[in-house]
Amino acid sequence: MKKIAVFTSGGDSPGMNACIRAVVRTAISKNVAVSGILQGYNGMIKGAENFIELNSRSVGNIIQRGGTILKSSRSKEFMTKEGREIAYQNLKKEGIEGIICIGGNGTFTGAEIFYNEYGIPSIGAPGTIDNDLYGTDLTIGFDTAINTAVQAIDKIRDTAESHGRIFFIEVMGRDTGFIALAATIAGGAEMVMLPEVKNDHVQLINFFKSRSETKKSFSIVVVAEGNFEGGASAISTILNKEIPGFESRVVILGHIQRGGSPTTYDRVLASKLGYGAVNALLAGEKNKMCGLINNQITLTPFIDAITKKKPLNPDLLNLVGILNN
Ligand code: F6P
Repeated sequence: MKKIAVFTSGGDSPGMNACIRAVVRTAISKNVAVSGILQGYNGMIKGAENFIELNSRSVGNIIQRGGTILKSSRSKEFMTKEGREIAYQNLKKEGIEGIICIGGNGTFTGAEIFYNEYGIPSIGAPGTIDNDLYGTDLTIGFDTAINTAVQAIDKIRDTAESHGRIFFIEVMGRDTGFIALAATIAGGAEMVMLPEVKNDHVQLINFFKSRSETKKSFSIVVVAEGNFEGGASAISTILNKEIPGFESRVVILGHIQRGGSPTTYDRVLASKLGYGAVNALLAGEKNKMCGLINNQITLTPFIDAITKKKPLNPDLLNLVGILNN
């Protein structure tokens, strides 16, 4: 290959820039030119103005920056046959022979369909704070996101203790509770409500009744946004109705979890996976996600990464019940 493209797509995650940097510098070290596509699949469809040549200097001073210098999007147009045809013509014009896509589920689904239709090979690097991809122990951005969530919980804990209050803190995680579970353990929260566990409000009510018996003065409950009974506001409303005199506060951490300077862990992970993805593409691999399993760079077919479910660690779930006493 003489020229490849790199882009970021879907929800941004801290460490994407470190990954772009590793992709560009690895490719250049092998005499392969790199084009950066701005705004993900939308930019691929818009064409020339969204394709920029990248060299070692253009990715200088970005390893410490959150967000993505290549911008991102969730493209509706790429989901249409017409959109993908235009994208293909644009890649052909630019002489792109292979793609490195940094993103999550939707990103890899798009890349898989695109290969089946037009034969352009892709290798993915898992960039999402949700950590919800099969085929990698951790995704780029997850470590930073949980550190951000835990710093916020620590602050809320101060005021919760001062007033003896109950706080429901909502963290991101549409379909999975990886952020919620890690933030619960590290933030010393007493309960967690997850999309994966039918943790209904009856259990929570019982928990708060026993809590007053043990005379705990304040409580923190972490709720994943995708919890099946609703987010933190919905849960607090249910408890307000069910327990007379129950009073609580709700904090939704939201998009602050997606921003900020990446942690050391995320920078190293992103650098390894960017390097691994380029090497795989140049070695003729395609339609695979480059992840890290047991500290080894591993390739997993896109189809498995997007369809297989990565389970929560049951030991961590048990631990919440032991540590909250
Ligand atoms: O996929 C990452 C994520 O941050 C999810 O945790 C969250 O549900 C979603 O993106 C929010 O997406 P958007 O920023 O498009 O509203």
